[in-house]
Amino acid sequence: MALSEDFLQELRSRNDITSVISGYVQLRRRGRNEVGLCPFHGEKTPSFTVYPDTESFYCFGCGIGGDVINFIRHAENLDYIDAVRLLAQRAGMDMPQDDSFDDSMRTLRMRIYEANREAARFFYSKLNSPEGKRGLDYLHNRCLSDRTIRTFGLGFAPDSWSSLSDYLIKEKGFKPSELIEANLAFKNKKGGLTDRFRNRVMFPIIDLRGNVVAFGGRIMTDEKPKYLNTSDTPAFKKSYNLFALNKAKNSKSDKIILCEGYMDVIAIHQAGFDFAVATLGTALTPEQARIIKKYTNNVIICYDADEAGQKATARAIEILRKENLNIQVLTVPDGKDPDEFIRKHGENGHIRFKMLIEGTGTDIEYRLKKLKDSFETDTADGQVQYMNEAAKVIAAIENPVERNIYAGRVCEEFSVTKTEFERLIDSIIKKNSRRDKRREFDKIKNNLAVPTSNSAAAARGRKTRAQKAEEFVITYLMNNPDAVKAVSKKLEPTKVSEGLNRRLYETIISRYENGRDVSYTGISPEFTMEENSLIVAMISVYSPGLYTYDACMECVQTILNDSALLSAKELSAKSDEDVQAYLEAKKNKLKNKKPQ
Ligand code: CTP
Ligand code: MN
Repeated sequence: MALSEDFLQELRSRNDITSVISGYVQLRRRGRNEVGLCPFHGEKTPSFTVYPDTESFYCFGCGIGGDVINFIRHAENLDYIDAVRLLAQRAGMDMPQDDSFDDSMRTLRMRIYEANREAARFFYSKLNSPEGKRGLDYLHNRCLSDRTIRTFGLGFAPDSWSSLSDYLIKEKGFKPSELIEANLAFKNKKGGLTDRFRNRVMFPIIDLRGNVVAFGGRIMTDEKPKYLNTSDTPAFKKSYNLFALNKAKNSKSDKIILCEGYMDVIAIHQAGFDFAVATLGTALTPEQARIIKKYTNNVIICYDADEAGQKATARAIEILRKENLNIQVLTVPDGKDPDEFIRKHGENGHIRFKMLIEGTGTDIEYRLKKLKDSFETDTADGQVQYMNEAAKVIAAIENPVERNIYAGRVCEEFSVTKTEFERLIDSIIKKNSRRDKRREFDKIKNNLAVPTSNSAAAARGRKTRAQKAEEFVITYLMNNPDAVKAVSKKLEPTKVSEGLNRRLYETIISRYENGRDVSYTGISPEFTMEENSLIVAMISVYSPGLYTYDACMECVQTILNDSALLSAKELSAKSDEDVQAYLEAKKNKLKNKKPQ
C-alpha cells in the first residue's frame, strides 16, 4: 500500500476523527477525550472512547480500535483503499492516480468478481441447454417462472468434474489460482482442478454494487449437503452479505422481509413482494443487521415455522433490537416455510401472503404470545408465572412509552391493577442495569489484560513485566520521536518480544531513520485492522505527555535486564510474579556463587 504520506496526512487533517465519528456515534466530552456508545457492539454504558490527542479511538468493551481510516473500515465494512476513498470524497479531495499505488488485493478481488460473473453466465446458459434440462425441470417443479429464473440469474452446474474450470481457463483466460481463490474450484489429487459446484441448480449472490460475489448450489435430490455455498474469499464474507439485498434495496417498500432461505426469498419476490432478503446459511449477524439499517428501520422476520426457525427468530430479535430496528414477526401458519406456504395456496398465494404481512405483530407481541402459550394461564399459578416472565420481556424495552403500552395490555388481559405490575417491571429494570454495569466492567477488566498478540502470556491473559515495559517504550516513542535515537542505540530490536511489539519497534526505528512520522497515525497504515485495534489498546493506557524520558529509559533497562536473565521462551511464558520470583532466585544464586 503506497499512498503517499503527504496525502494521508492531508486526508486525516481534513477528516478530524472526532467529527467523522460523531456522524456515527453520539459523543460526550470526558476530560480530554470523547465517549459514546460503541457502534460495533451492543452496550448500554459507554466504553467507546475517542482520543483526539493521538487521533485514535478504542472500545474497552469489544476491543476494536484504530485511526479514522480504521473506523470507517469497521463502520462501513470497506477495505483500506475504499475507506480512504470515502474519506477523500467526504473532504472533497481527489484520490491520487491509480498507478501511484499498487494494490494486489484489490486486483485479486476484481479478478474474482470477473470469474464469478463469467461463471454465472456459464451456469445460466447451461440451464437453458439440453444438459441443464434436469435443473430447469427442477426449478419449474418448484413453481418458478422463466421470468423469475432470469431476474435472479439462476443457473445449472453440469454433472462434470471440471467443465466450468476448463471453460474459464481455456476460453476466458483465468488462472487456476484465481479460480481457487474464488472458491469456484479446488486442486484435486492429480494436481488438476475440480469444480466446486457440480450437478446443482445455482443461485448467484450479488452484492450492493452488482458484483457476483458468491454462489449457493442446491442438489436436486435428497442427498446431502442440500446446499453448497461459496466459502469466504477475498471478495466475499458470508456474515456481511444478504441474499437479494441488491434487489430489495431498490424496493419502494419501507420494510424488509428477512427469511432463512434462497427459495423463500425467490418465492416471495415472485409473489410480488420485492423486499425479501435472506442470510446465507448462517444465523443473522450484527453486521448484517447494521447493513439492513442503512436501508430501512422496519424488519419483518419470516423464518421457518419449525422449532429451529423459532429459535433463530428469538436470536434475530435480539440482534435487530440492538440496532434499534422496528421488528415484526410473521409466523407462517400451516406449512414449513414461506416458499411452501405461497406454493400451497397456488393462485391465491400472493394474497394470502399479503394478509400474513398485514397481520404481523411486533416482536414484543410475538414474544408475549409465545410465553403465554407456554403457561397454563387459566390457572392462578400459570398466570403468576406468565406475568413474571412477561415483566422480564417488557423490562428489556428501552422506550418507556412502549413499555407502558405493553404493561397495560398484559394487565388488561388478566384484569390486574397496573401499579403492582409496573413496580415489578421497575425492579427488574434496576436489577438489569446493575447487571449490565457489572458486565461492562468485567469486559473492560478482561480487555485491559489482553491487548497484545504476543506470546503465550497474552494467550493466558497475562503479560510479563518486560512486555509491559516494551509497550510503555513503544508508546513513549510514538509520542516522543526525539527519544528514538537514544533508545534505539541502547535497545536492539531482537531484545523486544517477537510479534507485534517487535514489528512496532522496528517500524518506529526505520521510519524515524527515514525522517517519517512515527506517531500512531503515521505508522497505522503499516498494520492490519486487527493489529490496529491491539495497538490502540496499548497506547490508550498511557496518556501522552504524562510520562518522562527517565521513565522510558528505566523501562528500556527493565527489558534489557530481563532479557539478559531469561531466554525469550521462558520470558513469554511467565507472568509478572513468576518473573519476579525467577529473577530473585537467579540473583540469590549469583550471590551464593561469589568467591569466598
Ligand atoms: N443452507 C445451507 N446449507 C445447507 C442447508 C441450508 O447453506 N446444507 C442454507 C441455505 O441458504 C438455505 C437456508 O439455509 O436456503 C435454509 O435452509 P432450509 O430451510 O433447509 O432450506 P430451504 O430454504 O427450505 O430450501 P428448499 O426449500 O430448497 O428445501
Ligand atoms: Mn424450503
